[in-house]
Amino acid sequence: MARILLTGGAGFIGSHTAVALLGRGHDVVLADNFSNASRSVPARLKDITGVDCPVHEVDIRNTQAMQAVLAGGAFDAVIHFAALKAVGESEANPLLYFDVNVAGTLSLLTAMRHAGIGRIVFSSSATVYGAPEHCPIAEAAPLHATNIYGRTKLIMEDMIGDLVRTGMLSTAFLLRYFNPVGAHPSGLIGEDPRGVPANLMPYLCQVAAGQRDCLTVFGDDYPTPDGTGVRDYLHVMDLAEAHCAAVEVALGTYGTHAVNLGTGTGYSVLDLLHTFERATGLAIPYRIGPRRPGDAPSCYADPTLAKAMLGWTAKRTLHDMCQDSWHWQSLSAKARQAAEHGGSQAPTTAGAQLLA
Ligand code: UD1
Repeated sequence: MARILLTGGAGFIGSHTAVALLGRGHDVVLADNFSNASRSVPARLKDITGVDCPVHEVDIRNTQAMQAVLAGGAFDAVIHFAALKAVGESEANPLLYFDVNVAGTLSLLTAMRHAGIGRIVFSSSATVYGAPEHCPIAEAAPLHATNIYGRTKLIMEDMIGDLVRTGMLSTAFLLRYFNPVGAHPSGLIGEDPRGVPANLMPYLCQVAAGQRDCLTVFGDDYPTPDGTGVRDYLHVMDLAEAHCAAVEVALGTYGTHAVNLGTGTGYSVLDLLHTFERATGLAIPYRIGPRRPGDAPSCYADPTLAKAMLGWTAKRTLHDMCQDSWHWQSLSAKARQAAEHGGSQAPTTAGAQLLA
């Protein structure tokens, strides 16, 4: 059993990882500034797991506060999720992204050094491969940033790798996520984007819930089987279990290890849309629009190393991902509508129709 601090522990991937770690008997402490996470998450984690996780409301950029959190904790490792992740916002406000992601990570690493904590599992992204030359993508593929968000992930990977090389850290796992979707099957935690969702699954869920009229498919003239973009969608609970494996392996290994986390199978936008329709019984209105600038035609992982190093492979299907995303979305839409209308109205499905 290990004692682990999760920065960004109330966020989408952090909260699911907390559930998985608690399920394996680890001691979990959350640190979050709640800038993009709901304050209801800790209580929901307790509903799911029966465990009351200690929570520190703290910003990773506050080195002194992070030192205070780490100093008293006797932590074996830190899993570092806290970061901003919106590509468009990163291009509009690069300084904010360098501040939160890069300076925030520097601050965390400084606090870890102070507390003598030498193991980190870092939330990286397949975005570090830029526009991949071919798929499946292995970890040795060229690294390339195509936007500021991707640049910050590359800088953070390099900083952590350099600290391992020079001996300040003993072990680092750089986990490169492909496309995390889905939610805990309880429907109590999930992804809750602020504003208009930029990513496909949250947008699809909001169309299904009647919050948006129609999904725009960004391009149908890519060199893919049906012309729409292909991605490696991964259930967030599979991703959470990969973090458990990484922490457990990190306790007995040294060095920096970059590891892809994906299923190894690519699905198109239309594959996802039609699977979602089958999983939910809802017909989703969509239209074909122009390509989104910066999108690659295909992006899916070679997950061989994750299996070899972590003993991990993704188990959940695309159908599971759609079902669990929708379960979460429909429960949270109901809760929102109850709050707005004093609990008197059922949720609408203005954008979506029930399938015959
Ligand atoms: C995006 C980011 C990536 C980030 C990842 C985080 C861009 C260019 N890339 O990846 O850096 O790491 O999110 O999860 O923003 N699509 C539609 N209609 C929509 C939304 C998306 O057709 O309304 C399509 C996209 O063109 C793409 C696929 O769905 O083919 C998946 O898109 P998305 O969920 O945004 O993920 P990525 O683009 O892979």
